[in-house]
Amino acid sequence: QQAAVKVTVTGNGTGPRIDRNIFGQFAENLGSGIYGGIWVGDHSPIPNVRGIRSDVVGALRALKVPSVRWPGGCFADEYHWRDGIGPRAKRAVTVNGSWGNALEKNDFGTDEFFDFLDQIGSGAYISVNMGSGSVKEAADWMAYMTADPGTTAGAERAANGHRAPYRVKFLGIGNESWSCGGAYKPDYYVDEMKRYARFARNLNIEQNGTDNPAGGSVAGTDPMRRIAVGPGSPNTDYTEAVMRAWKGHDWAWSIEGLSMHNYTWVAWPPKYASTGFGEREYATLVKDTLKMEDMIRIHSAVMDTYDPEKRVPLVIDEWGVWLEKLPGSRDGFLHQQNSIRDAIIASINLNMFTRHADRVRMTAIAQMVNVLQAMILTDGPKMVLTPTYHLFKMYVPFQDATRLPISFDAGSYRFGDVTVPRIDAIAARGTDGKVWIALTNVDPNQPARIDVQIDGVRGRSASGTVLTADRVDAINSYEHPDSVVPRPITARVDQGRVQMTLPSKSVAVISVEP
Ligand code: AHR
Repeated sequence: QQAAVKVTVTGNGTGPRIDRNIFGQFAENLGSGIYGGIWVGDHSPIPNVRGIRSDVVGALRALKVPSVRWPGGCFADEYHWRDGIGPRAKRAVTVNGSWGNALEKNDFGTDEFFDFLDQIGSGAYISVNMGSGSVKEAADWMAYMTADPGTTAGAERAANGHRAPYRVKFLGIGNESWSCGGAYKPDYYVDEMKRYARFARNLNIEQNGTDNPAGGSVAGTDPMRRIAVGPGSPNTDYTEAVMRAWKGHDWAWSIEGLSMHNYTWVAWPPKYASTGFGEREYATLVKDTLKMEDMIRIHSAVMDTYDPEKRVPLVIDEWGVWLEKLPGSRDGFLHQQNSIRDAIIASINLNMFTRHADRVRMTAIAQMVNVLQAMILTDGPKMVLTPTYHLFKMYVPFQDATRLPISFDAGSYRFGDVTVPRIDAIAARGTDGKVWIALTNVDPNQPARIDVQIDGVRGRSASGTVLTADRVDAINSYEHPDSVVPRPITARVDQGRVQMTLPSKSVAVISVEP
């Protein structure tokens, strides 16, 4: 039997806040991510509120999703917001050229998006069209969303059913502008980005105050934050160009975030299956996801040279496992299953983000429903919660928690020529005052005995849940929705130490009561 892994948590220590926005999500007009997954229409036999399916809303509410990024992705740079407002029967019918040339009836537009956010209790992260749109189109959209109903734009919104200005918490200025968003050279992007940052104003005075209606640093209760396009590879050209511009910015414009995209796919095009795989594929993808650490370090180092005080967050607003499409699913719909492997990979990523919580203060997993590493899969009236959904739910107590120092010997898990850390762990003091610890056993074959000492806190009891499965490719299906669900884990507390056994390929989250 292997020796117990000793974990030490400084229970009375302190660290950065784990911003709740780290647990954000991305929902693009792509495949059945919106249509079928979120929007079914108000005449649908599937239970819905104003066209938005109630089973999905109920499930998402439990995740306390801090923000939802919409409408894209690549789609954002071909989206024209006017196509999606007003009476649905009169809306433009267009083609989604980014994703499978699907018919886009524009039934789900701006007002439906904000209704969805209200229903799940989340905030808006709007990506404006910088590829095929204009500064004026973006400014007009912002006015529609945020202006007082006494203005023409605000009156139009009121006529469409929402008198009060919406709150746009985050504004994405372009998407992957080095590629699908226009293939701009970094300096060209920066010049364009400044115009959007200046003129796509948030006019919600209650949210932003009056001094700086573009959002940002002054007045208001919760100023909008503008997020510029950043890197999608180790190449630092965009990071350099945007951060250099930020350092030299004057009163007229600014940004409050730099985007980074990084998927787990081993190589492009993605060819790893989401079902019916073995240990080699498991180990290979776990190893590939660790590249996120290099990406954060490389780009944080550049940001540090311009912004040592870490005022600009690194916003990882697309991440997750991108796998081969499910056989029989439509090209361009990015429809994949989701296994215990993917939940373990999500835990490793969330742990990396929290370890860099001073710079990484916002992320969005790709994507919310039916697309890539989804929380939820639907098929007509059927819905199933994925292992990644359960993992996100287990991590809710880490939202806005204070990270605590933790040390442990991770050991190694090996398969063939792949070697990765065997154990991963983070600790935090939750907003409820409890010490929360997340522990991942990457080894798909061997359980791990864990012995946690919490300095400065004499734990009296501990409880929690563990997510595991009998196979690395275990999934939840419509027929068997509860194959991979959290179950209680037994944690013994003995003289202030907490001891437990992590099953193989598992993630546990426990809380310790002082
Ligand atoms: O998430 C799917 C796509 O991946 C997004 O539309 C794009 O930004 C990225 O390349």
